[in-house]
Amino acid sequence: MSHTLEWSRAYTARLPETAVAACAARTAELAQRLAREAAAGELPFLTMPYRARLEAELTPLAPRLKAYKHMLVLGIGGSALGARAMQRAFAPGQDGPGHQGPWLWIADNVCAQQFEALLGKLEPAETVVVCISKSGGTIETLAQYFLVRDWLRTALGEGWREQMIVITDARKGYLREEAAQHGLAALEVPDYLGGRYSALSAVGLLPAAFLGIDWQALLDGAAHVARPLVEHPDSIGQHSSFALACWAKALEDHGYSQLIFFCYIPQWATYGPWFAQLWAESLGKDGQGSMPVPAIGVTDQHSINQMFLDGPRDKGCLFLTSRNQPQGRPFGMDLPEQWAWLRAKPFGSLLEAEALGTRMALCKSGVPLVHIEMGDTGPRAAGSLMMLLEAATVFTGWLMGVNPLDQPAVELGKRLANARLGADGYPQEEADLAAYLAAPQRKQGF
Ligand code: PA5
Repeated sequence: MSHTLEWSRAYTARLPETAVAACAARTAELAQRLAREAAAGELPFLTMPYRARLEAELTPLAPRLKAYKHMLVLGIGGSALGARAMQRAFAPGQDGPGHQGPWLWIADNVCAQQFEALLGKLEPAETVVVCISKSGGTIETLAQYFLVRDWLRTALGEGWREQMIVITDARKGYLREEAAQHGLAALEVPDYLGGRYSALSAVGLLPAAFLGIDWQALLDGAAHVARPLVEHPDSIGQHSSFALACWAKALEDHGYSQLIFFCYIPQWATYGPWFAQLWAESLGKDGQGSMPVPAIGVTDQHSINQMFLDGPRDKGCLFLTSRNQPQGRPFGMDLPEQWAWLRAKPFGSLLEAEALGTRMALCKSGVPLVHIEMGDTGPRAAGSLMMLLEAATVFTGWLMGVNPLDQPAVELGKRLANARLGADGYPQEEADLAAYLAAPQRKQGF
């Protein structure tokens, strides 16, 4: 089923359509860059050269995973958010009554209380653990790995190795060494595939396969959107991802510093945090970028929507809906007179009407808005949306003159935390910490 971008409300008096002219004028330059980087293997999220190997590895592994009731994923950032979005979108049973499994648990924080609660309830013999880290050295993930390894080993002895899978770089990093030393099953995160672009590799698709999600369909949908860019890079100017990138750059140039991702496909709500990480970590650089603001329709109509409508005029909006969402049960004919207009209408009619109402209200309050309308809400459609947004993010970075594939600013906090924990090799950070902590404080009780 076809998906569309609807542009009639994307431009306003303050953001005229001519605002994208400067970006559009760079089409040939970006087409050349796309061709060059794709050919050099530097854009695997787009070209997916790893697909055949992934299929060969995942297809026999998926039935083996069925032996376990639980999968515990250890990972953070791009190593966790894609899997969570797919889980909530396509295997939502765990959040509802009567679920009989399988259960996927994603541990992406270092909350000792939550972690203990998880390990205290899970049965090691029934749990396969998947430790995901592209770098193989992320402290949050490694810390969990060490504790879970002990937890498995205490219960299973040497059998722990059978129940630990790692997904990491093919050659480098501590986790890869660990896999080799202990003979752990290991899948790879391909070269140049950074965390936030890796959801459609083993990183997101192994958990998806465990849940019985049609992971091939996710790949098919993504490949469909990527194909014109891969096969004809010089057609970039006609691609919707490039149009979105030009629009996003124009928004930023015209003082719109926030980008709402308003998701009116409620079961896809967790794509909001996935998109937020993709956009923020890729584009928040050199004092530039727009802040992604995930919002859920209709829930956030009763929350942050007031700020969207009448707060600072600094927001653009990607507004996501789908045709053909299930309509659910109808209201009875005996509804009180005051609600008679709902009689016989399906429950699903609220979502459609409220999405329209909110979209129109946003436009009326001057928010430049692109409406992304999905033809359906299956995994193939989600794969298409993910590819659209990933490509749009990369092209926006190129237009901004930043590298959308790195995230250098987050390193400082990591180094300071390592120094605080006593790791070797951080003398400057130790000194900086001491100075920071020695500064006089101004505390106020409440
Ligand atoms: O998108 C990214 O690159 C990051 O958010 C990473 O996914 C995150 O920092 C975790 O890194 P790693 O997969 O190396 O453990």
